[in-house]
Amino acid sequence: MRVSDTADLWWKNAVLYCLDVETYMDWDDDGTGDFPGLVQRLDHLVDLGVTCLWLMPFYPTAERDDGYDITDFYGVDPRLGTHGDVVELIRTAHDRGLRVIVDLVVNHTSDQHPWFKESRKSTDNPYRDWYVWRSDTPPDTSDQVVFPDQEDSIWELDEKTGEYYLHQFYKTQPDLNVTNPLVRDEIAKIVGFWTQLGIDGFRMDAVPFLLDTSGNGDGEAARLPDPHGYLRDIRAFLDRRTNGGILLGEVNLPFEQQLEFYGGADGDELTMQFDFIGMQATYLSLARGDAGPLATALQGRPATAPDSQWATFVRNHDELTLDKLTEPERQEVFAAFGPEPEMQIYDRGLIRRLPPMLGGDPRRVRMVYSLLFSLPGTPTLFYGEEIGMGEQLSVGSRLAVRTPMQWTSGTNGGFSRARASKLPGPVVTGGYAPEFVNVADQRKDPDSLLSFFRLLISRRKECPELGWGSFEVLEQPHAAVLAHLCSWDDGALVALHNLGPEPVVVPVDLDGCGAEHLLADLLVEGTTAVDAQGRAELALEGYGYRWLRVVAPGTRRLL
Ligand code: NOJ
Repeated sequence: MRVSDTADLWWKNAVLYCLDVETYMDWDDDGTGDFPGLVQRLDHLVDLGVTCLWLMPFYPTAERDDGYDITDFYGVDPRLGTHGDVVELIRTAHDRGLRVIVDLVVNHTSDQHPWFKESRKSTDNPYRDWYVWRSDTPPDTSDQVVFPDQEDSIWELDEKTGEYYLHQFYKTQPDLNVTNPLVRDEIAKIVGFWTQLGIDGFRMDAVPFLLDTSGNGDGEAARLPDPHGYLRDIRAFLDRRTNGGILLGEVNLPFEQQLEFYGGADGDELTMQFDFIGMQATYLSLARGDAGPLATALQGRPATAPDSQWATFVRNHDELTLDKLTEPERQEVFAAFGPEPEMQIYDRGLIRRLPPMLGGDPRRVRMVYSLLFSLPGTPTLFYGEEIGMGEQLSVGSRLAVRTPMQWTSGTNGGFSRARASKLPGPVVTGGYAPEFVNVADQRKDPDSLLSFFRLLISRRKECPELGWGSFEVLEQPHAAVLAHLCSWDDGALVALHNLGPEPVVVPVDLDGCGAEHLLADLLVEGTTAVDAQGRAELALEGYGYRWLRVVAPGTRRLL
């Protein structure tokens, strides 16, 4: 294995960290997080070991969807900083070896965007065709809305011209019309603008919605003739403008369809995609104490082109969507992790963070993150996971998990010295309040969750086979246990995770191994012998986890 290979395809071995500048660190004490605050906290991220930041939208916004409703794609929300501050952030991050990707939200704009303000003025306005309009009465589309608590149609009547515009999300987010070449040119310009400022790629919002032009009517001519060709064009443009820039796409679809969004065997569309299927199966497995659903999901991942990569995660900034489970499966997860109606949203998801869902049990929390970091793919964290933050249910929406970052036990969790009423949202109260969960305390504590994350991330970086290698579920008799093997050239790692409370001894059978091999624990001290037939017995505590390197005779890898 050549470690140097891992530098070119950096995303295959990255550790991603998503944050919202608005809620991360307020440096000018006006109550809103800002770029100078984030810069001050970069060393926390370096110390944690993450390698790439994903910044949620920081553009001027009408604030109807927490920044995902943009009024200027080339601007910076003045509450968060200036272009100068963004450049300082990128520059300082790069100095620390951190890459930066930013959200690219071009399926729609805010209805306050100047393009839409023009578009709605008249049917012959030059910007009319920048959006998707229809004059006839739309059919019932209540089953297609993404936010069923607020919307009952994906079409909205605009009084001024008596026509309807398409909005696949909130009605304040009209969809851009990508069949219009002027819109496509503008999107390229946006990509070009931010790459010119030095970013390393994009997290691309709502990709299937962007490419779906069925709203443009029935005629072939009205549609994008080759939607995936268009995605290929964006990727090719990004490749031309950057050195290894990535497109990390939000595509919550079954695996086979996701494969198309990678560009299939050519791998020339999205560089990475979130593994929503694996994430949802993880929760079903956790709810059941049965690794089966997760193993099935992992084995069902289609093979991708070598450069493509899955982004793994257990929580993100949105609801914990369970939309790809069956109704009875979803109810099992609801019952286990979010039985109260105020924990659920859109009949498909939960607005909770992981530790409260697991009853705060540190064994389970650590086991889940150990699992996340040992799975094939690129682990992606949402800010605050590294210290075990909880949610603030009283917020009553997806924003329940987007509360201010908890830096200290002091006022506002050290996020800001402004009055609490000035903050973007409440600081978590109760058992997960900053008094009990904060960075400052955990930094000094070798037994803290933060210290555990540091260990996981540093071990993960030493195991490129996790990001690159082949993956195999090992046969063993315990339903609660996921035993898997990742191997790549001369590197092989066995990971064991016990999703149940009972201690077990796991027999594993390692093809091609014999008595000359050894299994060396990577998270604790210890080695286990392998017998002449390649068998080993490995003890696991209830909710236990182990990473074991397969040590071949004469290896020069450090243990
Ligand atoms: C997906 C984002 O993750 C979500 O937060 C947002 O509301 C929708 N896209 C609309 O932009």
